[in-house]
Amino acid sequence: MGQPPIMLVLGIESSCDETGVALYDTERGLVGNQLHTQMAMHAEYGGVVPELASRDHIRRLVPLTQACLAEAGKNYADIDAVAYTQGPGLGGALLAGTAYANALAFALGKPVVPVHHLEGHLLSPLLAEDQPAFPFVALLVSGGHTQFMAVRGIGDYTLLGESVDDAAGEAFDKTAKLLGLPYPGGAKLSELAKAGEAGRFEFPRPMLHSGDLQMSFSGLKTSVLTAVEKARAEYGDRLPEDVRNSICRAFQEAVVEVLTAKAKAALLQTGFRRLVVAGGVGANWQLRQALSQLSVRPAPKAPAEAVQTYFPPLSLCTDNGAMIAFAGAMRVRDAETAAAFSVRPRWPLTEICS
Ligand code: KG4
Ligand code: ZN
Repeated sequence: MGQPPIMLVLGIESSCDETGVALYDTERGLVGNQLHTQMAMHAEYGGVVPELASRDHIRRLVPLTQACLAEAGKNYADIDAVAYTQGPGLGGALLAGTAYANALAFALGKPVVPVHHLEGHLLSPLLAEDQPAFPFVALLVSGGHTQFMAVRGIGDYTLLGESVDDAAGEAFDKTAKLLGLPYPGGAKLSELAKAGEAGRFEFPRPMLHSGDLQMSFSGLKTSVLTAVEKARAEYGDRLPEDVRNSICRAFQEAVVEVLTAKAKAALLQTGFRRLVVAGGVGANWQLRQALSQLSVRPAPKAPAEAVQTYFPPLSLCTDNGAMIAFAGAMRVRDAETAAAFSVRPRWPLTEICS
């Protein structure tokens, strides 16, 4: 794609329940990064309420932009381009950021750059101090996506495989919910799993031997539900802590084993020896443990080959404006003049793949 010109790009992220606004300077790096999470607001309802999400984005965008400019010591006039998440995500939430980005760019007379949210995630590790070199396998493992991608360079991505139903984070959250944990329960479930007894419960490893890089996590919660119902019949509605924690442990082990096996297969298939983990589930302690000790054997009797695994800081893994500002700076050639705009709530990543 060639060297991007020197410029200051404002990035706007509003695809789900986080409003992110950041400024990326192609010479100096990230100079401003502001985020507001709506987690507390949605917790009351046990999940993201799209209409509330949209309204909150509208409320936050202007003050976050002002805070971001102040953090960077910049003015509106210094902005060279405005990048925004055009999709995929919640329609109304995307519309809030898209309308704002286009209106701001129009007022400033500057171009806009529509960004694919997942490309933002894919490139976010390049904002970390310990940057992976190309090529690498990226595991995007969030509340909305579980995908393996071959990343050979900016704009050079191949989708290797993905979950055919629930994303891993979604499975964590739904399982947490059926265990009575507050939203979003993924992190809490993983905390409880620490105290659980490994091997006390056993859940299936869906599609472990499917021979490809596809995954499925929705059946797993049904197995957990069956185990919970059985345990409730034995112990009553309030499960003893050790039983609940051991169910958490068994669920987590099943997810981690599938992700680890598929990560190995993705590395073998591509021949790459670098793995980058992005997305909220990348915070999971057991997944980190398993993936940071990874090695692969190209043939049954071949010596094991070490894999370098990168876990970017969590602030870059979860939704943020920085990754959108960065991806926008890398894609300025796609810049448009702010005018009529649209959002793409269902935008397959394959459309921007090589
Ligand atoms: O990337 P992210 O912040 O948002 C998107 O979905 O885009 O990921 C959030 C997901 C949620 O499903 C949350 O439950 C999960 O990441 N998560 C975890 C942990 N921390 C967050 N899942 C398992 N273990 C964790 N420690
Ligand atoms: Zn995301």
